[in-house]
Amino acid sequence: MYQALYRKWRPRTFEDVVGQDHITTTLKNQVAAGKFSHAYLFTGSRGTGKTTCSKIIAKAVNCLSPVDGNPCNQCEICRGIDDGSILDVVEIDAASNNGVDNIRQLREEAYFLPTVAKKRVYILDECHMLSAGAVNALLKILEEPPEHVIFILATTEIHKVLPTILSRCQRFDFKRIKSRVIADRLLYVCDQEGIQLEDDGAMLIARLADGGMRDALSLLDLCVSYSQRITLETVTQAAGLTGRERLFALVGAILSHDPTGALQVVEELSQNSVDFTRLCEQLVSHYRDLMIVKTVREPDDLVQGTQEELEQLQKQAGELPLPQILEGIQLLQDSMGRISRTPFKRTELEMAVLRLCGQGQPSSASNPLEERVARLERMFQQGAPQQSQPPASPPPQTSNNPPATPKPAKKAAVQQVEPFPRWAEVLEQLKKRNGALYGAMVESRAFTNGEMMLVDCPNELFRTLLRTSVAAKESLRDSILAVTGQKFSLGPYNPEKYAVVQRDPLTDLVEKAKAMGVPVEES
Ligand SMILES: Nc1ncnc2c1ncn2[C@@H]1O[C@H](COP(=O)(O)OP(=O)(O)O)[C@@H](O)[C@H]1O
Ligand SMILES: [Mg+2]
Ligand SMILES: [Zn+2]
Repeated sequence: MYQALYRKWRPRTFEDVVGQDHITTTLKNQVAAGKFSHAYLFTGSRGTGKTTCSKIIAKAVNCLSPVDGNPCNQCEICRGIDDGSILDVVEIDAASNNGVDNIRQLREEAYFLPTVAKKRVYILDECHMLSAGAVNALLKILEEPPEHVIFILATTEIHKVLPTILSRCQRFDFKRIKSRVIADRLLYVCDQEGIQLEDDGAMLIARLADGGMRDALSLLDLCVSYSQRITLETVTQAAGLTGRERLFALVGAILSHDPTGALQVVEELSQNSVDFTRLCEQLVSHYRDLMIVKTVREPDDLVQGTQEELEQLQKQAGELPLPQILEGIQLLQDSMGRISRTPFKRTELEMAVLRLCGQGQPSSASNPLEERVARLERMFQQGAPQQSQPPASPPPQTSNNPPATPKPAKKAAVQQVEPFPRWAEVLEQLKKRNGALYGAMVESRAFTNGEMMLVDCPNELFRTLLRTSVAAKESLRDSILAVTGQKFSLGPYNPEKYAVVQRDPLTDLVEKAKAMGVPVEES
């Protein structure tokens, strides 16, 4: 029968447990000296060795011929505990046995002497799940545990454990295990199993496991089902990852503002059934690497990868200003949030990629449409009134100078404003920042003259919120800033004071395309 690697390779001695030396040394010494505690609390993320160490203690204190604090793993007691036939060692999953009756029963039983072993050992997993009643029942026995009983409580969520419990236990914090340490353990296991595992494959598994040995071994199991010889590619494929070189190609296309090239890479990946959520994660960490390489003098310790990859990262980071890297991270993280919720994962990712392509792209003067957009933007910034121009008029040659039209007189009776085309995006931003205000503004529209954002909203709550709450105003301003990159002052739209100039639909389209990072073709 096939046994999962993580079960098969559960450490059987304290020395066998990796990455938790501060704990295992102490425990071993305590057991060897017979000075162990009657109540331990093990905390730390999953798969770091909590249950493993509990089992080793249970065996070590009961073993017929212990070796230096370790169990022999051969005597009948050790074997009986391993195969679960010795009932003096009890593992309880508090997640499913969390009631007061469960603990009362445990307490009654605990006062009886053990039947075969020397000590009764209770391993209470996920102890933060115990009900209030159960905790009270447990406290009574933790206050004065009988000499023949050891409690080992384990939890992944220490902040949910009551202080009254904490104060009665000796606490050990299991750390996330370093990637290198996990990789070495994987290499050891493979060596014993006759599996060929290459070092960079081991490192990649370790990084994906994020400090947990159980996940690392499960991932190794998955790779084994692909091939008995595990390379970087095997891991990449088994985990639904994108190879680093594809990732470089994708980011390379983004950096050269080449949406077609970038989407081609996405298409190829899609054919290799890449997981788009993972791809988005990988893009985030690629941008994170770019940030590190850009800002840290000696990034080698902080960025994983070969020397060649590091050089490639340095090259890409050289082409991208830091603000854009940061903006890219933000943009990708926003997409991460959405991608897990939408069934259109690929589309979401493609939109993110297109936006990245459009980042910091200079508008080329040879492109009349872009020039028009740029002109419009300048006018926005300068607050100049909109001249009614025929849609296809050629760009003026004064591109670096302010438009020749005079600024509107201060007391102008009627000001010209335009509908603000990206209002839906602003509301989308607002939804995250201020749900109440968003709710009030669902049916709103906005107009702008480039400086002011004039909101037209029929909802009374909107007016009240804006009048009474500074936070509400701030959240709206921040949302506008997030979309436009510009600070607008806010005001109500009053049809008597403002004349709306309709934008021609082409301009809107160009604006939208630009917002999505799609470079605009010549018409
Ligand atoms: N520190 C470790 N050293 C070696 N293997 C470990 C370690 N931690 C976990 N493992 C592996 O992961 C499996 C699950 O570990 P376990 O101790 O049950 O984790 P948890 O901390 O969630 O209780 C073990 O069977 C073992 O294969
Ligand atoms: Mg466990
Ligand atoms: Zn033994």
